[in-house]
Amino acid sequence: MKLLRSYPIIGAIAAQVVAGALVWLLLMGLAGTLDARGLFWMALLMQSLAAALITRLIGLPVWWVWIGLCFPAAMVLALNAGELPAWPFGVGFVVLYLFFSNTARERVPLYLTNRATTEALASLMQQRGASRFVDLGSGLGGVVRALDGEGRQARGVETAPMVWLLSVLVSKIFRRGRILRQDIWSADISGDDIVYAFLSPEPMPALYDKAAREMKPGSLLVSNSFAVPGVEPSETWELPDRRKTRLYLYEMSERPSVSTDGAKAAVGQ
Ligand SMILES: C[S@@+](CC[C@H](N)C(=O)[O-])C[C@H]1O[C@@H](n2cnc3c(N)ncnc32)[C@H](O)[C@@H]1O
Repeated sequence: MKLLRSYPIIGAIAAQVVAGALVWLLLMGLAGTLDARGLFWMALLMQSLAAALITRLIGLPVWWVWIGLCFPAAMVLALNAGELPAWPFGVGFVVLYLFFSNTARERVPLYLTNRATTEALASLMQQRGASRFVDLGSGLGGVVRALDGEGRQARGVETAPMVWLLSVLVSKIFRRGRILRQDIWSADISGDDIVYAFLSPEPMPALYDKAAREMKPGSLLVSNSFAVPGVEPSETWELPDRRKTRLYLYEMSERPSVSTDGAKAAVGQ
C-alpha cells in the first residue's frame, strides 16, 4: 500500500494497537490461571510476537518487524528507567551507532536486498556478460557473496563499523566476495561493469554524478528502489516479489549528463 510505503510508522503503530487488543482478549481467558507477574511477562511476550507478525503481514520492511518485536520491551525499560542503571543505555547507544552510523551521517539506514532482487542482479550480470560488480554500501554483504565466483568478481564497500566487520567475517568464512571498509564516495568504480546501490533518496543525485564522472561507457548503475531525480533510466525492472521491488538501470554513455540541466536549458532557465 502506498500510504504504508510512505509512512511505515502508521503501520507500525497500528500493528502495536491491534496486537494490544488481541493480547488483551487472549489474556482475559488466562486471567485466573496466572499470577500478576506471570500475566505481565506473558502479555509482554505475546505483544512483541503479535506486533512483529502483524508488521510482517502488512508487508513492512524487515527492520520494522524488529522494531515491532523490540518496542514493547523498550517501553517497559523506558517506564522503569528511574530504577535502572544508566550504563545499559550507553552500551545500547554505542551498539546502535556501530550498526547504524550511516543513518545519521548519510541518511541511509540498514536494510537488506531480498533474494528475488539478488537473483535479478545475477541474471542481469549474465545477460550482459558482466564480470565486475560492486555494491556501494554493501550492508551484511549478502549480495556480494551471492554474485561472487564462477568467473565473476564482486566486492562491497561499507563504513558502518559493526556491519563491515560482520560482513568481512562471513565473507572470509565462506570465501566469497571482498568487502572493503571504504566510503562510497571514495570507491573507485571506473572498472566495474555493474555498480549496485540500495541506499535512500538522499544520496541519489550525488551518486549519479559520481557514476557519470567515473564509470566506463556501457557499464550500468543499478539502483534498488530509488530513482535518480530528473534522469530517465535506460530500463526499469519491476520484480514479482512481495514489495514489488523496482530496479532502476542507468546505462553509462560516453558522457552522460543529468537531464534536469538539459530541461532547464530548454526552457531558458
Ligand atoms: C540499505 S543498506 C543496503 C545493504 C546492501 N547493499 C544490501 O542491499 O543488502 C545501505 C548500506 O549502505 C551503507 N552506507 C551508507 N552510506 C555509506 C557510505 N557513505 N559509505 C559506505 N557505506 C555506506 C549503510 O551502512 C548500509 O549498510
